[in-house]
Amino acid sequence: MSDDRTLLAAAGALRSRAYAPYSQFTVGAALLDIDGRVWSGANVENASYGLSMCAERGALFHAVAEGVRAFAAIAVAGPSGVTALPCGACRQVLWEFAPGMRVISAGASGPVSIALADLLPAAFGPEQLRAAAASGEERR
Ligand code: THU
Repeated sequence: MSDDRTLLAAAGALRSRAYAPYSQFTVGAALLDIDGRVWSGANVENASYGLSMCAERGALFHAVAEGVRAFAAIAVAGPSGVTALPCGACRQVLWEFAPGMRVISAGASGPVSIALADLLPAAFGPEQLRAAAASGEERR
């Protein structure tokens, strides 16, 4: 799909914004909301390594802070030759807002598009919390 190519190109351009002096693994993310706006993300590392933030979550948090909570797709671009897909933490965080979204990355012969639900099968999410509350089980 040419829209996927466009979104992936945006993600690729965002790699230049990454701050990745420790891993040298620069990642860009372009998050498409349901109104067609694109939210930017790039990974931001820290000398205290564990505080580093992935491109995908950066894009999502930016959008949510601007009042946007519904998303259609996210394109992720890493170093060339790498099919960059969101890490487990990012899959979980994306699931919270958009379990129906698609994830786009660069394949060997063009963009690949994968349902987030296929990347995070049997996910835990808000639905489990609602079910527990509805069951009326006594809280401790
Ligand atoms: N990273 C991302 O930004 N997104 C991913 O999907 C995978 C990993 C970042 C985290 C870290 O800055 C670097 O890539 C190497 O793990």
